[in-house]
Amino acid sequence: MSEDFSENVIDFYRKHAERFEEERNCELFEKSWLDKFLASVPEGGHVLDLGCGFGKPIAEYLIGQGYRVTGIDAVPAMIEKCREFFPDEEWVVGDMREIALEKKFDGILAWDSFFHLNHTDQANMFPTFKEHAKVGAPLLFTAGPDERGRSVNPLWGDPLFHATFSKEAYVAFLKKYGFECEDQRFNDEECGGRAVYLAKRV
Ligand SMILES: C[S@@+](CC[C@H](N)C(=O)[O-])C[C@H]1O[C@@H](n2cnc3c(N)ncnc32)[C@H](O)[C@@H]1O
Repeated sequence: MSEDFSENVIDFYRKHAERFEEERNCELFEKSWLDKFLASVPEGGHVLDLGCGFGKPIAEYLIGQGYRVTGIDAVPAMIEKCREFFPDEEWVVGDMREIALEKKFDGILAWDSFFHLNHTDQANMFPTFKEHAKVGAPLLFTAGPDERGRSVNPLWGDPLFHATFSKEAYVAFLKKYGFECEDQRFNDEECGGRAVYLAKRV
């Protein structure tokens, strides 16, 4: 096992894909954020879902609202599930840190996935977000508390890594790479205490 626990995240989800599917809360507690996000996506627009998991409930909601989805996840078992549930969408096994799809999307989200990257990898994602976002496209991601930090906590018997920058740092990254932070909340109780960022490509 790597000393840099961020390098173990993909193996963590490889090992626990089935358990994640069993225990992932699918009541759509994210709905209010997804609706704010979708308010900036044109009808039938194409959304890039980074770290899409098994596609429920988030991609499922977007597809149900008439949007197209391209989902990327590093764990093959997750993508197999997405293909089984939503065969008409595009599902790709891949590492979000390495994507270069040569296509721009009407919206990008990285819900509960971006926060598993270490600080360097998170910082490097902002140019990737920019490359893949049309002007006006919203960007939605979750992070951690309002201070720079990293944590490794046990889940299902294995260590799981998270990292976060401060709000000021995220706002600065967004600005530098052509996004404006439109809404932000720490400890959103409706969302299980998550920190959420919604930005728009300007
Ligand atoms: C907590 S799950 C969230 C899944 C989904 N977004 C959801 O809200 O249900 C984190 C997901 O991110 C994926 N992931 C973690 N690091 C990744 C990376 N570097 N590239 C692509 N996917 C990654 C994992 O395989 C896992 O499916």
